[in-house]
This record gives sequence, C-alpha cells and structure tokens, in this order.
Amino acid sequence: MCADFTRIRRFLAEREPPTPCLVVDTDVVAARAREFRAAFPDALIRYAVKANPAPPVLDALVAAGIGFDVAGPAEVGLCLGRGADPADLAYGNPIKKPCDIAFAFGRGVREFTSDAAADVDHLGRHAPGSAVSIRVVLDTPDSATPFGRKFGCAPAEALDLVRRAAARGLRPGLAFHVGSQQPDVTAWETGIATAAKLFAEAAAEGVAMTRLNLGGGFATTHRTAVPPLAAYAATIEAALGAYFPAARPELLLEPGRVLVADAGLLRTEVVLVAPRDGRRWVYLDIGRYNGLAEAENEAIAYRFEPVDAAGPAGPVVLAGPTCDGDDVLYQRTPYELPLSLRTGDRLDLPGTGAYTASYASVGFNGIEPLRTYCIGRWGDA
Ligand SMILES: Cc1ncc(COP(=O)(O)O)c(C=O)c1O
Repeated sequence: MCADFTRIRRFLAEREPPTPCLVVDTDVVAARAREFRAAFPDALIRYAVKANPAPPVLDALVAAGIGFDVAGPAEVGLCLGRGADPADLAYGNPIKKPCDIAFAFGRGVREFTSDAAADVDHLGRHAPGSAVSIRVVLDTPDSATPFGRKFGCAPAEALDLVRRAAARGLRPGLAFHVGSQQPDVTAWETGIATAAKLFAEAAAEGVAMTRLNLGGGFATTHRTAVPPLAAYAATIEAALGAYFPAARPELLLEPGRVLVADAGLLRTEVVLVAPRDGRRWVYLDIGRYNGLAEAENEAIAYRFEPVDAAGPAGPVVLAGPTCDGDDVLYQRTPYELPLSLRTGDRLDLPGTGAYTASYASVGFNGIEPLRTYCIGRWGDA
C-alpha cells in the first residue's frame, strides 16, 4: 500500500495544533490490518501494542478483528478496556514477574512466550494449562533495531524448555522474532527451518507441538524502500511448504510497526539553527526523549519534509531540544534541508506512527510526552 498523508496534512492545516505532535489516521490503521490479514489469511494476528497504544488505534484494530501482543499487565488492562477478547491476547514478553503472569491469567490470557527455565516454572505455577511458545534466538543480522542476545534461548536449549513446559502441564509451541525493521525476507525462512527441526525432535519424544509464533519485524519505508508485504508472505508461505510438508503448525504473527507506521505523520518546528565546527546544526522541538527514540545509533532514519522553507538545500546535523548531550538525532546519516531554514519553520516526518509517542519520556526537561491526535472513523481529535 502506498502511504498517503493528505488527510493528516489537511487536519494539521485546519487545526494547527502546537508542535511537536503526531497525527494518526485510524482508517489507515484499519486498511493496513485488512491488507495484513489478506497476506496471511491462515494466521492469528496479534498486534504488538507497544508500537502505538493510543486507544483509537486499538479500537480500529478490535473492529478489524485483530488480537493483541501485550508486554505487561498495563497493556492487558488497556486492551481489555477497549473490548478485546482475552482469548485474543498473547503475552509476548519473555521478561515478566510471577505476579504479572498471575494478573494476566486472572484476566483470561492463556497464550504466553518464554525463553528461560525459571519463567517456564512461573508459568506452570501461575498460568496452568496455558499455551507457551518457547522463543529461540536466530542469527538474522539485517534488522535495523536488533534484539541482540537479550531474548531467546539457543535452539539447542529449546527442546529442554519444551520438555519442561510439557512436564508442567503447559502446551508448548515455538516462537522467534527476526528483529524489528527487518528488510531481509529470508530471515523468516531461517526461523521456520529452525522451528521445523525442533518440532520434529519434540515429536520424536512424544511431545506434540501445534503452535508456531513468527513474531513481528515487517519493515516500513523511511528513506530507503523495503520489500512489499507480498514478498514477506511469499517467502513465509514457501518456507512453510518446504519445512512443514506434511502438516503446517497453527501460526501466530505479532506485527507492530507495519500496521501503524504509515498511518502516522509527526510535525516538528525548528527551535534554532546554528553553525558549529563548520557544520549547520538544526535543533528541533522533537528529539530522542520526546518521540524519536528510534534515532538512537541513527538506526531509523526518518524522512524530514519542509513545510515552510524551500529553495536550495545544504547539509545539516539534526538534534533534539533537551539539555542532554545524547539528544542528537543524525550526525553521520547525510541529511540536506533548505539553506533558508529558520527558527519557527515546520518539518513533517511521514511514516512515524510506530514507536514514537510510545517511547516518549514523561517530562524530561519539562517537555511533555508527544501529543497524539487520532483522526478517521475511530479518531478522538
Ligand atoms: C515479542 C514482540 N513481538 C512483536 C514485536 C513487534 O515487532 P515489529 O514492530 O517489528 O513488528 C516486538 C517488538 O519489539 C516484540 O518484542
């Protein structure tokens, strides 16, 4: 789908909300959900709430029949409060307190992910009989925001956890996440091949697994194009056919950014333009701490489109408004903006509906979290 921000720009022109702000079109979220479901008709879809937990976004997804990947009790409560069925929630965070497991189980959640023996034991005690997907770590290096070694057990340890889960009365399956903003579609083939081997080994021991969680990771376009959803779907379909020729497992997908990034546009204003060491520094009213956390290590390079300034462009360093020395957005990634750019000029960042507002600090330097305005059928603006 080609992202179109005309409606959002019209809203900004009519309402002129103070900057910085994020505007999300809930009709686009719903359209994205339909497109994703069409690409993966047989999978259970659980939207990763962390990408954008704005209630109107969740409302659009509940209406579209999408379930939710939740990371903790607050997200469980949020989704249930928006009318989600607890049977459609998957607790995908492997790092959780026993009391958080008990909370989720008490609210009806029966689907979890785990990657450590102690957590499997906690699940056995506090979420008896639940489905538990054991997350394996993969070598899929092209993700722009990789998980490193934080999550997932080595495939060689996974069988132990599968056995352990079965012995505690849980219903084991497998999970992987190829890393967010993953442009390499073959990463899922790596995961499916790894899972198929483990499914076969468990079956040989009499442990029948039914569920495979393929995670999220589907990339969205910023400055460089990424594969279309159809390319991800085709690779996954082919890998399932190749590695699960007899019977394919029940599939679960946890897309985050791909459902919401292109539904959002962020507007910011230039605070200051100043020369420093021969470079032109442009300080914005948006930075690492009030919405652009994914600019850390310049991992996600957003598009910056001038609203007011025009004319010949030249190189810039882009930085945020706070007193923190790390609040620099891009000094290695080459950016050019109009030479006429001045204090008060506005810039638009299209495709920023995911992992922006949800990452904003509550008040570092007294700056309020990024305001979100939701428009469209489920909007509240
Ligand atoms: C467990 C889990 N599932 C799904 C997602 C969503 O990933 P993405 O937004 O790349 O689709 C994440 C992102 O961090 C995650 O941690």
